[in-house]
Amino acid sequence: MSCKILVLISGNGSNLQALLDRIARDEIDADVVGVISNVAAAYGLTRAQQRGVKIEIIPHKGFATRDEFDRALLTAMRAYDADLIVLAGFMRILSNDIVNAFLGRMINIHPSLLPKYTGLHTHQRALEAGDAEHGCSVHFVTPELDGGPVIAQARCAVLAGDDEKTLAQRVHLLEHKLYPAVVNAFANGRLRLRDGRSEVDEVIVV
Ligand code: GRF
Repeated sequence: MSCKILVLISGNGSNLQALLDRIARDEIDADVVGVISNVAAAYGLTRAQQRGVKIEIIPHKGFATRDEFDRALLTAMRAYDADLIVLAGFMRILSNDIVNAFLGRMINIHPSLLPKYTGLHTHQRALEAGDAEHGCSVHFVTPELDGGPVIAQARCAVLAGDDEKTLAQRVHLLEHKLYPAVVNAFANGRLRLRDGRSEVDEVIVV
């Protein structure tokens, strides 16, 4: 039975697109059963609709408190009965209740070589630090922001003359290879969270 995936987005959705493309080419035994966005204008919603994927908008601004939004989001997420939750540019910090409900079944992609540069503006910070290398990481989501066990990383050189935009573009290309590769490992039962660590039965190469 193929792996049922729920994707959470807030924006462009290029990582969602990369995943949908690989699934459409039968390179990953999975189905995206839904895409939830907290932003109605997120272009990723259009990408999902173009592939006939159910979309749902849960605007955080429509709730009086963070708690109410979190509860509505958790209820919505549960309804998909997904095997895996893929955070793909979802720009809200999830409550502990949500994280714990999907522990070991929720992954995130972050545009840095974790543990470096958790949070925002990662490309700018790598440039300012004079790093020779930069990249992206996929990790299991735990209550610690961008702090869950890292599953796999992809790296690239920081080139002379790079600015935030050129570096971000290079990292994005890596993300589009790395994230589907990790999803594939999970879908094949070759990736799990065990005793607070990520356990992968294969070398994920991108
Ligand atoms: C990516 O850079 C990802 O690492 C970060 O959010 C961005 C999402 O990009 N978490 P996209 O919406 O998939 O194009």
